[in-house]
Amino acid sequence: MKILTVVGARPQFIKAAAVSNVIRDEFNEVLIHTGQHYDENMSKIFFDELNIPKPDYNLGIGSGNHGKQTGTMLIELEKIYLQEKPDLVLVYGDTNSTLAGALAASKLLIPVAHVEAGLRSFNMKMPEEQNRILTDHISSVLFPPTKTGVYNLKNEGIKEHVYNVGDVMFDAVIDFKKLAMEKSNIIDRLNLYNGKYILTTIHRAENTNDIHRLENIVSALNDSGKEIVLPLHPRTRKYIDDYGLTFSDKIKLIEPVGYLDMISLEMYSEKIVTDSGGVQKEAFFMKKPCITMRDETEWVETVENGWNIIVGTNENNILNAIVEFTPERKQEDIFGDGKAGKKILDILKKEIYNK
Ligand code: UD1
Ligand code: UDP
Repeated sequence: MKILTVVGARPQFIKAAAVSNVIRDEFNEVLIHTGQHYDENMSKIFFDELNIPKPDYNLGIGSGNHGKQTGTMLIELEKIYLQEKPDLVLVYGDTNSTLAGALAASKLLIPVAHVEAGLRSFNMKMPEEQNRILTDHISSVLFPPTKTGVYNLKNEGIKEHVYNVGDVMFDAVIDFKKLAMEKSNIIDRLNLYNGKYILTTIHRAENTNDIHRLENIVSALNDSGKEIVLPLHPRTRKYIDDYGLTFSDKIKLIEPVGYLDMISLEMYSEKIVTDSGGVQKEAFFMKKPCITMRDETEWVETVENGWNIIVGTNENNILNAIVEFTPERKQEDIFGDGKAGKKILDILKKEIYNK
């Protein structure tokens, strides 16, 4: 039995790291990298560090407008699907690679399994929201990571073949935390002290592509007076340069880091300030207060549990949260038991063999 997995962007490599080696125990997995992310520190470093199998295909699609990027992926993926004839296509998350991977399969009547299904921001302006809704509605097996994911799918009429297996990113943190502690020396390299700095990431299109939102974020970080580590996504670096924004010398702007360094930075931080989906969850796994610079989140349980606060991009709201936000409640079990990969394997076995 053959599973064809499609990945393309940074968070998908990390998700695949938690699943690929598990499903390879049972299935012949063919791994396709669309090439959506291609810089060494946005792609290769994850394959090397996390022992992800080398992609069988790299489509080298690269950056571009949504239509062109997604459409080119679709054309190239279809050729491979016709040649490889997989029993199922596996996709992760909500990027353009996810949608292209699912749509190319669905058109050829190949079943699609969607890991991280059912998440909604209810903001259709986000490319990710469009991608995830479309992908969910053409998937045959859906793996929502949370109860909210199951609920959202049910509300859209998707009730069959839906399995809340927990979150594969929780598996990844559990699998790689020890390795990060052994191998990463980023805390020393950057002269950081445990609990004495804020870790920030910014890359969401709605923040980078809007000068006012990005200006507010940069001002709040500058005015906080805190030591801040900011690994800059290439999208964000480009806009910061274009807008001519500058940072105070307490902000350490660094290149995107590998996953082991990132886990280390998260683990020893005081708080995490982000607009990333994955980093919001990792803040929760690491029991760090998370300040989310968006107007909504898909990870509503982390907010309800008091470990994540949604502040948008109002400068004062970000600043106040950096100074004051402190979770008060014990963490609830939101993301499963860290064995999502194994559960996905068991369910896929049943779904594929019983077809
Ligand atoms: C994509 C996903 C987003 C996800 C993010 C993870 C979509 C629509 N968006 O956003 O959901 O959260 O990945 O990081 O799929 N660039 C480089 N080098 C690279 C990759 C990108 O320089 O290796 C620059 C290019 O200028 C490019 C820009 O970043 O135009 C945006 O890249 P793109 O893949 O289109 O979207 P992301 O913002 O990375
Ligand atoms: N990440 C990383 N290096 C970085 C920034 C993020 O390894 O410099 C990891 C992070 O730990 C998480 C994932 O990338 O596992 C999140 O990806 P990103 O924020 O790019 O996308 P999103 O999760 O918002 O789709």
